[in-house]
Amino acid sequence: MAQELTNAKMIVDKDFKVSEIDPRIYGSFIEHLGRAVYGGIYEPGHPKADEQGFRSDVMDLVKELQVPIVRYPGGNMVSAYNWEDGVGPKDERPSRLELAWRSIENNRVGTNEFVDWARKAGTDVMMAVNLGTRGIDAARNLLEYTNHPGGTYYSDLRRSHGYEQPHNIKTWCLGNEMDGPWQLGGKTAGEYGRLAYETAKAMKLVDPDIELVSCGSSSSNMPTFPQWEATTLEHTYEYADYVSLHQYYTNYENDTANFLAKSMEMDHFIGTVVSTCDYIKAKKRSNKMINLSFDEWNVWFHSTAEDQKVEPWQTAPPLLEDVYTFEDAVLVGSLLHTLLKHSDRVKMACMAQLVNVIAPIMTDNGGQVWKQTIFYPYYYTSVYGRGTALNPVVHSPKYDSKDFTDVPYLDTSVVYNEEKEELVVFATNRHLENTLKVDCDIRSFEGFGVTEHVVLEHDDPKAVNIVGQEQVKPHHNGKSHMEDGHLQAILPKMSWNMIRLHKQK
Ligand code: AHR
Repeated sequence: MAQELTNAKMIVDKDFKVSEIDPRIYGSFIEHLGRAVYGGIYEPGHPKADEQGFRSDVMDLVKELQVPIVRYPGGNMVSAYNWEDGVGPKDERPSRLELAWRSIENNRVGTNEFVDWARKAGTDVMMAVNLGTRGIDAARNLLEYTNHPGGTYYSDLRRSHGYEQPHNIKTWCLGNEMDGPWQLGGKTAGEYGRLAYETAKAMKLVDPDIELVSCGSSSSNMPTFPQWEATTLEHTYEYADYVSLHQYYTNYENDTANFLAKSMEMDHFIGTVVSTCDYIKAKKRSNKMINLSFDEWNVWFHSTAEDQKVEPWQTAPPLLEDVYTFEDAVLVGSLLHTLLKHSDRVKMACMAQLVNVIAPIMTDNGGQVWKQTIFYPYYYTSVYGRGTALNPVVHSPKYDSKDFTDVPYLDTSVVYNEEKEELVVFATNRHLENTLKVDCDIRSFEGFGVTEHVVLEHDDPKAVNIVGQEQVKPHHNGKSHMEDGHLQAILPKMSWNMIRLHKQK
């Protein structure tokens, strides 16, 4: 049966700019958690493992995603991590109780191996330091180990481990989710603010070229949000370059219309953090602007009940292995629109995580690798969403859901890549029954024509991809064309789309 049509309009103009997009907005995250490292990026003995034990099949997909930066080694895990356990000869490294996820950590992968992996994967490292059980000393020593050229205890230790050249890791997180009662060594805002300030001071003395991320709230639902940001930034403002945001989205109620609107929650969260940063800026009479690092975001809820049944003290148990549905992919597409719409202040963001653990890439131990549904909007936005984010004017019919009012059916973000003479319209149709017919005025892009319209759609919102069976994947038969300077696009019901236009020769 033909779908009913709903009309929407938008205007895209070259001059309506949000910002140059920092490519690090397409970052991701690898934590020593579950099978992210062991059985994910690293599996010696696997037929596709390279000489260091890194799975080349996984690395190929990471490269396909063009992930610019990967946060490491945690997450909750970093708050009780001794970085020294993970360097030096592998057979001398200790096995430890990893308390955050109640697993065994054998430290076969540590800082140097991860940097090697990142280089091979063509990505940068965003390193987190332990401000839970440890503090200034461990952080400054790790930085000396990774970034100082040589002639000192820790830089020479690195050299003795076979790494003559410094790693020069630029981006550092001052702890992880220190507001969370679950966090090892969790702190009040005042306690964290003082410790983060003193740690940041020491770290910038070791290497003034680094950038630092001050810990924001673990989610906008925390009772201490946004006072946490205000109090901690009062302390860390001088040294911090970014404040972090974390948020995971759920659909426990199985309410698709409400779930698809949750990017509005992200939008609101970002807005509040920007305001809080600027409030502290004003209070301090400062000229410096703090930007945002949304360094944990994704859908996470499918695996929560299963995880309660996992026996503790295993090495690399299957934890947080959410199997993503088609509707999750549609929301992920909208979350990416939201990050782009705020790219004037959101300079880094990490889809959490990258492999096996709430991830776009899944593996079988000893077996295959495959793409989850959420791989696709992440892939297309990362690869084609480079350049300048534009601010489209959108006129769309709206709906109300359980938690949201005035949710536009049309959710969109637009990127202009001047060098490639390419205009990319990313668009979600949130309507569960109707096709959206979008009239998009792009008269300022004279001579541009449609070259590709990719559509991610599926009749079953709960369709998933499993090994050897990829039910949800995009097709290239989207219907759009140009008419008198207007892009006419057809967005099927509940779909995510990418329309690329180029200057016609
Ligand atoms: O990404 C999974 C976990 O979520 C991280 O370890 C933690 O920072 C967050 O609560």
